[in-house]
Amino acid sequence: MSFKRVKGKIIKHPKKLSFDYVPDRLPNREEQIDLLFTLFRRAIESGVSQNAFLYGSVGTGKTATAKRFCMDYQGWAQEKGQRVDYVFINCRRRSNKQQVMWKIISHFDKHFPDRGFSVGDMMEILNKHIINKNTHLFVVLDEVDTLVQRDGSDIIYLLSRFEEEDTVPEGRISLLLVSQKNVLELLEDSALSTFKRGNRVKFPKYNTDQLLDVLGYRAELALFPDSLGEGELKLLATTAASERGDARFGIELMERASLIGESKGKRRVEAEDIRSAKAEIDPYFTEEKIRELNVNEQLILLTSARLLKSTPFTTTGEIEERYAVICEEYGKKKLGHTQFWKYLNTLSDYGLLNAHTVSSNKGRTTEVSLSDIPAEVLESRLDGMLRG
Ligand SMILES: Nc1ncnc2c1ncn2[C@@H]1O[C@H](COP(=O)(O)OP(=O)(O)OP(=O)(O)O)[C@@H](O)[C@H]1O
Ligand SMILES: [Mg+2]
Repeated sequence: MSFKRVKGKIIKHPKKLSFDYVPDRLPNREEQIDLLFTLFRRAIESGVSQNAFLYGSVGTGKTATAKRFCMDYQGWAQEKGQRVDYVFINCRRRSNKQQVMWKIISHFDKHFPDRGFSVGDMMEILNKHIINKNTHLFVVLDEVDTLVQRDGSDIIYLLSRFEEEDTVPEGRISLLLVSQKNVLELLEDSALSTFKRGNRVKFPKYNTDQLLDVLGYRAELALFPDSLGEGELKLLATTAASERGDARFGIELMERASLIGESKGKRRVEAEDIRSAKAEIDPYFTEEKIRELNVNEQLILLTSARLLKSTPFTTTGEIEERYAVICEEYGKKKLGHTQFWKYLNTLSDYGLLNAHTVSSNKGRTTEVSLSDIPAEVLESRLDGMLRG
């Protein structure tokens, strides 16, 4: 399928779906940003440098939060008449202390040569820039584990004890270390001794409700109004949450589903587009997985696929009702209620269907969705197997 963007009717601002775009707000990360403010407010209020360690699994918003915080902090300091600079360094790309120092100095001097200076020389040069500009510098070392693993923790030691150097009387550099892994375990004792271990900011995985906020907000920013319905948004969030609680995956899925919808000339993302997107990005349903199911499971899955062709979610009640009709259609014996439930649960345990109990004023129902394959494709495969 070609994703040439001729005249898309779903995505309004493609850049706002890109990974390096930093939105104004980060829903469900207010707590982390507040904590960072609490930790760092003294950096400019009393000239005390600080450091913090931001950690959590993939796509939990660590990088976005670190960037948002630096921007917001800079604005806040400016209002108080104080200058703040920040340098953001991805350590996967700059994986030794020379490169890190060069990147920091380049922030102040665009033409600084990338060779010919030792780390010690560069420290002195940085010192001068900081004094001249009368600034407080935030250095963000993102994916810092890659740096520490390749080059040890010297640079963290040097930057975090900067305030003790004779020429700079006050704390002028604050460090934010960001990593999926617990990098504090990797630090050598010298670096650890200068690092305040208590300053940890945890980024838990996002649950479905949190991803609803996050993806809803990103859709609002990036898509045309009304191009993503409530049910479809919920399917995106459910899919991303059941994967890894990963916002990046959710955004990628939203973008891909939108492009698939656009390539079909649609104005709205449909559940089938989301499932196609999931199947493309991260295929889960294989021929083998479906073949391994017994006939009862195949019939229940086929029933679910039929119902889900036109909607993001269905319920177990609807499936059970339609299941009876489908058994007749295929000339198979229908299971009793208890057995039906057992097989439906197996399908959910296998991850072929997502089943979630929801409570509403009508009582409790179990909602069922499908995220890994378009319902139409699944239906036709199962139909082939059951007839074959
Ligand atoms: N709360 C949020 N609100 C809006 N967008 C978010 C939120 N959290 C994350 N995102 C977006 O999700 C994507 C992934 O976030 P980010 O890059 O910050 O994750 P990460 O924790 O740094 O992951 P990794 O460990 O893989 O580097 C980015 O596009 C980011 O803008
Ligand atoms: Mg990151």
